[in-house]
Amino acid sequence: MTVRTPGTPASKIDRTTPVSTPGGPKAREEKIVVTVRLRPLNKREQLAKDQVSWECIDDHTIVYKPPPHERVTQPASFTFDKVFGPACLTETVYDGVKNVALSALNGINATIFAYGQTSSGKTYTMRGITEKAVNDIYNHIMNTPERDFTIKISGLEIYNENVKDLLNSDPGRNLKLLDDPEKGTVVEKLVEETANGSQHLRQLINICEAQRQVGETALNDTSSRSHQIIRLTIESTLRENSDCVRSFVASLNFVDLAGSERASQTHADGARLREGCHINLSLMTLTTVIRKLSVGKRSGHIPYRDSKLTRILQHSLVGMHGLPSFVR
Ligand SMILES: Nc1ncnc2c1ncn2[C@@H]1O[C@H](COP(=O)(O)OP(=O)(O)O)[C@@H](O)[C@H]1O
Ligand SMILES: [Mg+2]
Repeated sequence: MTVRTPGTPASKIDRTTPVSTPGGPKAREEKIVVTVRLRPLNKREQLAKDQVSWECIDDHTIVYKPPPHERVTQPASFTFDKVFGPACLTETVYDGVKNVALSALNGINATIFAYGQTSSGKTYTMRGITEKAVNDIYNHIMNTPERDFTIKISGLEIYNENVKDLLNSDPGRNLKLLDDPEKGTVVEKLVEETANGSQHLRQLINICEAQRQVGETALNDTSSRSHQIIRLTIESTLRENSDCVRSFVASLNFVDLAGSERASQTHADGARLREGCHINLSLMTLTTVIRKLSVGKRSGHIPYRDSKLTRILQHSLVGMHGLPSFVR
């Protein structure tokens, strides 16, 4: 199996000593967590006797061992907040981002991304993480009888800078983004449903997934170029007056990104970026935004407005919390 050097937004290569990535301990102050999951080889890859080029050598480091036909022959190591080997269960991966997901219950916006090449396991992992987060959210609600919770959900897909509602089955609709002076960027006419329990919320998430699959079938080989955002907006209010904070509201975004291989191609040829052909503008801009956020206040202008994905997520990225990324 040939595997490209990962183009993760916050990875750093070091051919001698592993060092911290911009998304590693230093970025913890910025509240960005970067984890990597390696998936096991699938049946086809096993039959083809594909070689695994990546190895987790401890909880934080993966090593890339170039296959013999590559020009670069020296192994390269990358460090992250946490790395998970092919035998790891999604439950273990979820434990690494659980605090991020649950922070939305206390009024802190959070975003969990899956970043990686097509077929690296983004959708598989995000499904599991979303499922486990929903369980934990409803457990928290059960254990917090003093508060009234309302959970709303919306789902959208961005393909070639067109925004589609995943809770509205009208496939032709391309939603507009509007600038609201109070709320920031809003997606005009995006359906937002209020979940009346965990089962209902799961049903709504399943509708989003099914809607995305309809789109993927229609798009064929371009399917890996769309981003999916499932947004839960969690509001809670104290039932009785006390010294505690009375109301919280925050959103929790689960973002299953388009395949990153397209982004690396565009890195190689900047002219094509300007021409806008076969380019995933949103993924490129997200990479820039996260790089800038990870270096902190010195980074100057952050180009949120350059793509639909970063415009829609701007509000959540400002107080950035989570960035799991996945390579294989
Ligand atoms: N950790 C894993 N363990 C077992 N199978 C996995 C794992 N991650 C991904 N897969 C399988 O690999 C295939 C590609 O995963 P998928 O999530 O669709 O990739 P992506 O969304 O990155 O394109 C799917 O068949 C999926 O079930
Ligand atoms: Mg996918």
